[in-house]
Amino acid sequence: MQEHLIIFDTTLRDGEQSPGASMTKEEKVRIAWQLERMGVDVIEAGFPAASNGDFEAVKAVADSVKDSMVCGLARAIETDIQRTGEALKGAQSARIHTFIATSPVHMKKKLRMSPDQVITQAVKAVKWARQYTDNVEFSPEDAGRSELDFLCQILEAVIDAGATTVNIPDTVGYTMPDQFGTLIRNLRERVPNSDKAIFSVHCHNDLGLAVANSLTAVMNGARQVECTINGLGERAGNAALEEIVMAVRTRQDYFPCDTRIDTTHIVSASKLVSGITGFPVQPNKAIVGANAFAHESGIHQDGVLKHRETYEIMRAEDVGWGANKLLLGKHSGRNAFRNRLMELGIELESEEMLNNTFMRFKELADKKHEIFDEDLHALVSDEELVLHECFRLISLIVHSETGEIPYARVVISDNGNEMSADAEGSGPVDATFRAIEKLLSSEAKLQLYSVNNITSGTDAQGEVTVRLQKSDRIVNGHGADTDIVVASAKAYLSALNKLCSKLERAHPQV
Ligand code: KIV
Ligand code: ZN
Repeated sequence: MQEHLIIFDTTLRDGEQSPGASMTKEEKVRIAWQLERMGVDVIEAGFPAASNGDFEAVKAVADSVKDSMVCGLARAIETDIQRTGEALKGAQSARIHTFIATSPVHMKKKLRMSPDQVITQAVKAVKWARQYTDNVEFSPEDAGRSELDFLCQILEAVIDAGATTVNIPDTVGYTMPDQFGTLIRNLRERVPNSDKAIFSVHCHNDLGLAVANSLTAVMNGARQVECTINGLGERAGNAALEEIVMAVRTRQDYFPCDTRIDTTHIVSASKLVSGITGFPVQPNKAIVGANAFAHESGIHQDGVLKHRETYEIMRAEDVGWGANKLLLGKHSGRNAFRNRLMELGIELESEEMLNNTFMRFKELADKKHEIFDEDLHALVSDEELVLHECFRLISLIVHSETGEIPYARVVISDNGNEMSADAEGSGPVDATFRAIEKLLSSEAKLQLYSVNNITSGTDAQGEVTVRLQKSDRIVNGHGADTDIVVASAKAYLSALNKLCSKLERAHPQV
């Protein structure tokens, strides 16, 4: 009988800490539903004390997810824990994850606390958290560079205080697989009450070892892995959920445990997260890259045609490739549309939103032969943005001709007031952005401009991501349309709408 390996997804918390990956409340809820559908055990929905926006997002996820446990992160500070407890009130099943740094460099230089003070604070934090839920996780931050004896001491104390999961983070992605595996084994053997808590790991990918370190930890007794879709996360990211899950599932002859993930939802989850954050997936990325199952060389193709297992260790369909084939077209009615949204786990806030989205679906179906699930996600994202927008694109004229200077004329509405401007640029997109800037003078810096086709074919919708920075705020805007210049204008305005929302947020590790 295989043991259960708990999958703790932190796409919405650590993933969101990647510069530029910030998500709206609605986007977080949509990703949370997809994670729930996949069978993720624990969803870390955010850091409620960071800002009101984070609090509301964690609350919205806690209120709407039923089958997964919802977790909130809190520093080992009473007010953080109170806030997290409040945000999680509506959850069917809630966990508070509290942490404090334990490495000499963090304690001395960042916290300016002695090791004894750190233990006292950690124990208090776990006890505060236990007032809200009996499911409490504790992390000694930067465990990978902490002293073993000190880690044993603090873990024993927090387990005694009521921590039910102890998570060992390799915060800076410093350890080697063998070393990290030994650390987990040593901790389990040396902490006297280690059998009273589940050991978890949280590995960063600075040296490209996050997945290897996590899997070695599993072989040494860890029974929870913290990971993110597409490996999103601080700096080089976290361990990729899809790689952990598929390694364990594919090598059941090797691992003593398995997850309860329905792997056929993996590709949709990857596309959803990539679309929302604007972080593209590299084509050769394991499991979810476009080429992950493509055989180019003749010898491989010949082998696969003769006997699939010659070159394939997993089946593309088992991770959801090809599962999102067309289901809707121009003649589909409102009910078919509503049903497909429900199957995708998308619940629109009101009948009015459903009507508007359906109208836009019909417009899209006129331009585009087939509508895929990804198109529906993009339509819903657009509709959600409309709810929170100050600026909206009314119309756009662009002129682009060989040998001529590209020109754009945009009409936008600023809280209902229509205004227009025109500008020239080095290309039609540049001219469009210049015209918008003439009107709004945001002075934000363009950090990233990327275009992806949501599905394949020349009639596909292009999804544009625009990342803007103003002072220390970085936001992503998205826009989708079959015309990529229109999609670009929408994306630019959506980023400006986010900048204008003026949300302030703290970083958990600062
Ligand atoms: O990387 C890290 O140490 C973290 C902790 C908060 C678990 O993200
Ligand atoms: Zn982390």
